Amino acid sequence: MEIKTVGVVGCGLMGSGIVQVCAQAGFKVVVREITDQFLAGGLAKIEKTLAGAVAKGKMAEADKAAVLGRIQGTTKLEDFAGCDLVIEAAIENLDEKKKVFAALDAICPPHALFASNTSSIPIIAIAAATRRPEKFLGLHFFNPVPVMKLVEIIRTIQTGDEAIEAIRVFSDKIGKTSILAKDRAGFVVNLLLIPYLLDAVRALESGLATREDIDTGMTLGCGYPMGPLTLLDFVGLDTTYYITNILFDEFKDSKYAAPPLLKAMVTAGFYGKKSGRGFYDYPAK
Ligand code: 3HC
Repeated sequence: MEIKTVGVVGCGLMGSGIVQVCAQAGFKVVVREITDQFLAGGLAKIEKTLAGAVAKGKMAEADKAAVLGRIQGTTKLEDFAGCDLVIEAAIENLDEKKKVFAALDAICPPHALFASNTSSIPIIAIAAATRRPEKFLGLHFFNPVPVMKLVEIIRTIQTGDEAIEAIRVFSDKIGKTSILAKDRAGFVVNLLLIPYLLDAVRALESGLATREDIDTGMTLGCGYPMGPLTLLDFVGLDTTYYITNILFDEFKDSKYAAPPLLKAMVTAGFYGKKSGRGFYDYPAK
């Protein structure tokens, strides 16, 4: 099965990155947001990233125009009727995701593959809202999507071999390396990343070292591009807290228990970079 047109549900942080990489790889992309305002914001983010590449001499102006020309924005799921693959990157809420995919099941052609970018909700629980569970899988991208080279492909107990193979080929085409994981909370990356991030919060909370020294320890000591507290601010403390609670619910293992400091910061609205304050301050530009 050849994928030509991709539908993306959601044009936020992850959705806009997914739209961009698909359009840059030559796919036609239809992207849906719930309001015109959110849609305009997401499309503006893509335009800005591409303009940055043009300014650095990494992309020709004509190529930028061609990429943008392959993107169709909409607020109506009905516009996904011609899609061969739909990637959902909407709010992390099971009921919302089920509603979206139940509607898409009636709109999209029978051959279309459905993928969710969820980082924490069981894929099978979303797939159950459709009549095509053999064509349903997880496709988990990493932030910032245009830069991070990995996608995790998540196979449920019902996903078919053909769907996995088609998504592997698609991942190659958009320039990502894919790894395959079972449909278990955290998949591969978050299962390993989250305890590391939580341990960094515990280290700070216990007074082991300053935030700067914890981060410098891991950037210079291990060659990580960002220290764990900077990465927490980048990913979002609220997002991390949400994922942490799902992992704890699933495994009941104390390594996934949210440290009180993380909970307190999320309660206070210190979500990291996006809210202007996390472990560090981010004054509005
Ligand atoms: N969108 C598009 N491009 C971006 C970008 C963004 N948001 N942020 C940076 N870039 C590009 C820059 O334009 C630059 O491109 P160039 O090399 O072509 O000029 C390149 O990335 C490097 O950027 P900078 O020079 O500005 O900055 P750095 O070298 O510090 O890199 C970084 C920034 C790529 C974010 C790097 O610090 C990094 O890799 N950090 C770790 C990120 C990470 O671990 N992500 C995974 C989080 S976990 C997750 O997403 C899973 C979820 O379920 C929680």
